[in-house]
Amino acid sequence: MTHSSAHTIVMTGVSQGIGAVAASRLLADDPHAHLVVVGRRPGPTSPRVTFVDADLADIEATRTAGRHIGTLAQNGSIPRLDRFVGNAGIQYTDAITTTVDGLEATFAVNVVANHVLLTQLRSHLTDSSRIVITVSDTHFGDLRHNLALVPAPAWSAPDVLARPGAFTEPESAAAGRTAYSTSKLAAVHLVHAWVDALEPGVDIISFNPGLVPGTGLARHAGRGAQLMMRVLGPVLTLTPLATTSTQAGAELADLVSGRKLARSGDYVDRNRVVSSSAESYDPAREAELMAFLDTL
Ligand SMILES: NC(=O)c1ccc[n+]([C@@H]2O[C@H](COP(=O)([O-])OP(=O)(O)OC[C@H]3O[C@@H](n4cnc5c(N)ncnc54)[C@H](OP(=O)(O)O)[C@@H]3O)[C@@H](O)[C@H]2O)c1
Repeated sequence: MTHSSAHTIVMTGVSQGIGAVAASRLLADDPHAHLVVVGRRPGPTSPRVTFVDADLADIEATRTAGRHIGTLAQNGSIPRLDRFVGNAGIQYTDAITTTVDGLEATFAVNVVANHVLLTQLRSHLTDSSRIVITVSDTHFGDLRHNLALVPAPAWSAPDVLARPGAFTEPESAAAGRTAYSTSKLAAVHLVHAWVDALEPGVDIISFNPGLVPGTGLARHAGRGAQLMMRVLGPVLTLTPLATTSTQAGAELADLVSGRKLARSGDYVDRNRVVSSSAESYDPAREAELMAFLDTL
């Protein structure tokens, strides 16, 4: 998947953290790349970047952004569209933060926004396209992956998971973190579900950056948790337990560009194709999730 002519990468979660590193790298490594940044804040400043303003917690705003990008692709205002990167993600300290649509905000950003953008963009993606969705190994739920920092996912029907208060003691920080791991399990299900819904030649892949201390992800966490991460984070990145945003951003860029080989439906753990959790392979759940998301 090398590029010899102009093409467009649509990407969310570019304003900071892993996505900011990946976006800068994609632009630097590939002079043919045009980047469409979808989000609340613009990404890098460059004539090769178009910013489309959207709060991804708001379904109508997200749908409008997707439609607008489709129009730009159709009328030739941007080069051919062959990449979508759903990297935006959020974690709260409760499971009751509610969006304008009445959804729980973690689920809205981490799951619904990706589905809405994919729905709007799918018919504009050209042959040999690659979609990458940033998930998380917290979806496994075991000690090796969750390091006792994030509780295991707690699955239930999608219309329950999508609403505030889906988890035990929903006002607690533990419920917020459970909402996060569960939303990332849902994102892996979403990738599996979209494999067959896409045209042949359009691939969709899950990316797990691993634990990356120092990004904005814990910005809603309490001061204690933030302080712990500030002290522990740099130490952890010296061990195999954690990685830096520079490293994670480079790995994401390699996967998006196609330098890293993977097949549709694969789960890429940092730079290796591995299996996602046993629980994450569940066609019945995937169909139920897709059916629910299509009602929104
Ligand atoms: N850091 C880790 O340890 C880790 C581990 C596994 C997976 N991940 C995943 O990696 C991805 C990147 O996270 P990060 O660690 O780089 O965190 P980050 O620095 O907080 O970046 C998150 C990005 O998502 C965007 N975003 C969040 N809510 C949004 C909304 N409502 N509308 C538009 N954009 C929104 C943010 O934009 P704003 O600037 O507008 O907020 C930001 O660009 C996420 O999907 C995260 O879940 C991270």
